[in-house]
Amino acid sequence: MGDVWGTAVVTGASSGIGARYAARLAGLGWDTVLVARRADRLEDLARRLREQTGTAVETLVADLSVPADLARVAERAAARDVGFLLNNAGINGFGPFGALDPSLMAKVLDLNVVALTVLTRAALPGMVRRGRGAVVNVASLLAFAGSLPPGPLPQRAVYAGTKGYVLTFTRTLAAELAGGPPRLQALCPGLTATEFHLTSGAEPVPGREPAVHREGGMPVEEVVDASLAALDAGEVVCVPGLRGDPGRIEELVAAELALRAAAQPAR
Ligand SMILES: NC(=O)c1ccc[n+]([C@@H]2O[C@H](COP(=O)([O-])OP(=O)(O)OC[C@H]3O[C@@H](n4cnc5c(N)ncnc54)[C@H](OP(=O)(O)O)[C@@H]3O)[C@@H](O)[C@H]2O)c1
Repeated sequence: MGDVWGTAVVTGASSGIGARYAARLAGLGWDTVLVARRADRLEDLARRLREQTGTAVETLVADLSVPADLARVAERAAARDVGFLLNNAGINGFGPFGALDPSLMAKVLDLNVVALTVLTRAALPGMVRRGRGAVVNVASLLAFAGSLPPGPLPQRAVYAGTKGYVLTFTRTLAAELAGGPPRLQALCPGLTATEFHLTSGAEPVPGREPAVHREGGMPVEEVVDASLAALDAGEVVCVPGLRGDPGRIEELVAAELALRAAAQPAR
């Protein structure tokens, strides 16, 4: 993204997409605030980024599903220097809905939906006032998979619901802002090579060394490349690896408009 100024707040920066995105932003010249639960991972990354890029790097150790922690991060996201917000932290809580631990279910909703919305609300007004900035909200290709049964896809009703929220929230907010600035993006990766499938999300993956789940998937670098390119192009919905883009997204928008037009009340 060419328009570099100030600080980028990156949630879920201790592994996977968030760690790589933070490194790319620092490489572009952004100062960064790295947010996640695992302090040792954040400190390792912060040290590396300071050495490699000379940018300022803060760490904010926080469990974003805990209201007091979320409030601390929201306060930081609302500061004047913040020009980029990556709402990336997310957990899956995969499994049959009827067997889902209610406390894990609440955590999935609190993190994937509430924290993302609260942080967007904290950061966005300042960006609008200043007439610049970007918010990237990480959804998932699973947001488009509502009609598909599990196998090979995971059992995912709550997770997919939260990602459907991220997609609709971000697209609707982008429409409210009428093209910005700031720029908004719903990033919808398919299967990506991260730690994501190593935990349901109740507890972090242990250890200092980032790991990758055995399902494989797209390299994180490609997800970040696609997101940054889509920001430059002003695309609100980014599906990394999508061929024929933006045609597919336009087809989706056309189908939504046709559905609304067809659902008029009978005269
Ligand atoms: N990997 C995939 O196949 C895939 C596909 C589509 C979308 N996504 C989405 O991509 C995003 C990033 O996931 P990833 O694939 O990079 O997985 P990941 O490697 O597991 O990273 C998840 C990040 O979220 C953080 N996090 C988890 N719970 C948290 C909490 N309560 N508070 C603060 N931070 C928390 C984790 O850090 P700590 O554990 O240190 O807190 C970690 O930094 C998620 O929103 C996910 O839904 C992933």
